[in-house]
Amino acid sequence: MTANTNHIMFYVFPTAQDIARFVSAQIHQLIVERDRLVLGLATGSTMKPVYAQFINEYQRHHPNLQHVHCFNLDEYIGLPAEHPQTYAAYMQEYLYTHMPFVQEQLYLPCGKDWPSQEECLGFSKQIQALGGIDLQLLGIGTNGHIGFNEPGTSFDQQTHVVALSEQTRRDNSRFFADKKEMPTHAVTLGLKDILGAKSIFLLATGEQKAQIMGQLQRGPVTEELPASILKKHPDTAILVDEAAAQELDPAQCKEGTVLLEKIEIY
Ligand code: F6R
Repeated sequence: MTANTNHIMFYVFPTAQDIARFVSAQIHQLIVERDRLVLGLATGSTMKPVYAQFINEYQRHHPNLQHVHCFNLDEYIGLPAEHPQTYAAYMQEYLYTHMPFVQEQLYLPCGKDWPSQEECLGFSKQIQALGGIDLQLLGIGTNGHIGFNEPGTSFDQQTHVVALSEQTRRDNSRFFADKKEMPTHAVTLGLKDILGAKSIFLLATGEQKAQIMGQLQRGPVTEELPASILKKHPDTAILVDEAAAQELDPAQCKEGTVLLEKIEIY
């Protein structure tokens, strides 16, 4: 397959906090404009400043959230429900306990028991039943994964169970006090589901993401680098801070500050 960078643009922001301001403002704008809003949300360290900023804005302006639905990308399999590193616990801690969402607005794939194929597809169907995801937030693994779609995953997959790669297990074991607890499997929205989102923001911050961002920009669309499929999506923006932009070609990037200047919702 050949490289196709027609559809995606790389925006370089001075800091991760600037990205958080932009993304939070975009979500607030959609909340105000839309009658129904379906958000696709990610976890991980990249999203923490985004959610902190989002809560901050919420507490200042209190927009109505009753028409918002939030779908998470993924969940570990095999952790006890009360484990602090489940993604359900992450979402509670960093977002949901600070907002007046009710349970019916929040959707997480269930990894407590090994989900059947039917249960996995049921998650993809719930998204479709609500008209699809309006805005999907994505982080990226150092190996190019999005959600937990590891290198080699078919672009045609919907929600499914994955064996986590050694690289992902190494990267994410930093969150576990006892490294042996790091799960071997997870359930994730598939690349087909992600590509179904109307708009996508892929966020990458910190120098540990510089190498994969360079590969993503220069390289072809290939299942070996799952995030490369975003080059085929009609409305994806890649948002990076300066640390993650070190290996990008500046001629193929725009300044994120241009987007920041356009923010004015409330
Ligand atoms: C998490 C997820 C993952 C992370 C990625 C980056 O829900 O889907 O793809 O976005 O592993 O993680 P951080 O942000 O911790 O570097």
